[in-house]
Amino acid sequence: MSEKKSMPDYSDLEFKAGSDVHVWDGVIYPWFVHAKTLDAMADFKVRTDDVYVVSFPKSGTTWTQEIVSLIKNNGEPDNTIKNKHVEERVPHLEMSTAVPGTILYPRIAAMPEDKPRLIKSHLSYQHMPKDFLVKKPKIVYIARNYKDVSVSGYSFLRMYKAFDIGSWKEFCEGILMREMTPYGPWAAHVLGWWQHRHDDNVLFLKYEDLKKDLRGGIVRIADFLGKDLSDDAITKTVEHCSFETMKKNPMTNFTGLDAFDHKVAPFMRKVLQLAGGTGDWKNWFTVAQNETMTKLIDERLYGTGLVFDYDP
Ligand code: A3P
Repeated sequence: MSEKKSMPDYSDLEFKAGSDVHVWDGVIYPWFVHAKTLDAMADFKVRTDDVYVVSFPKSGTTWTQEIVSLIKNNGEPDNTIKNKHVEERVPHLEMSTAVPGTILYPRIAAMPEDKPRLIKSHLSYQHMPKDFLVKKPKIVYIARNYKDVSVSGYSFLRMYKAFDIGSWKEFCEGILMREMTPYGPWAAHVLGWWQHRHDDNVLFLKYEDLKKDLRGGIVRIADFLGKDLSDDAITKTVEHCSFETMKKNPMTNFTGLDAFDHKVAPFMRKVLQLAGGTGDWKNWFTVAQNETMTKLIDERLYGTGLVFDYDP
């Protein structure tokens, strides 16, 4: 691609509808989630034994997908896990084909009929397939603090060869602080799911907790999924899903994706001294930006009981 597109002008969303971002039912969606796919969520057939990994983007989705995939496989990184990309093993529900309206769920449709499905989604509670309220499949929701999500999102979008995302200042103050993010405002997303954290079929996790105690997080997820893993299987899952292993693994590190310029930033960045985690936002936010962001987050989360760690 010779000419880089500038990032969408979020102040003129109606005009941009159908191209880079569009608005569906009051929520901003990225170009790869077509309105027709979202319309079709009304008829999507959920299965009781489906497992959904749900998150606001950049919250540790891939990490949780890999953990769930390993747990389902009894901690065994067999040939399927070694050779099939995590996005194929745990495909993205609302990711559409390049041609709008052709196949609504190409990756889901390709999954075997006779096996329980593991599915990823970034949808808000309200926009999940209607059938999920009836079938009540298991949902592992992973949340991460908005400051690290912000920096992770900026670094991720900078990797897209097709976009010129602009400066951190433009992105932070023009999009993040105005809560004009794809998939809707971060706070609305996490709070929508937080309200359902006590539902039997929902496990609400935080990235920061997983980072502090990966083994404990894996045990919680396994219990929730009804998997009785041996100590050895848990140890194998911990090793396979550590930051260091996943960063080296082409099935989880996205190095094969041509749409990205991996020299700009790797999908799994080197974050602080411990790599992968909490607190890189301190290297990006100015004092003033941090004050505004802290105020915004405090206002949104006030009285909800939801709190996040911001330090490694
Ligand atoms: P950073 O950009 O801060 O490095 P998602 O999968 O939702 O897009 O989230 C991507 C973020 O999760 C990236 O954060 C990535 O490094 C982090 N991540 C992925 N695997 C991880 C792991 N095993 N341990 C810790 N963080 C991980």
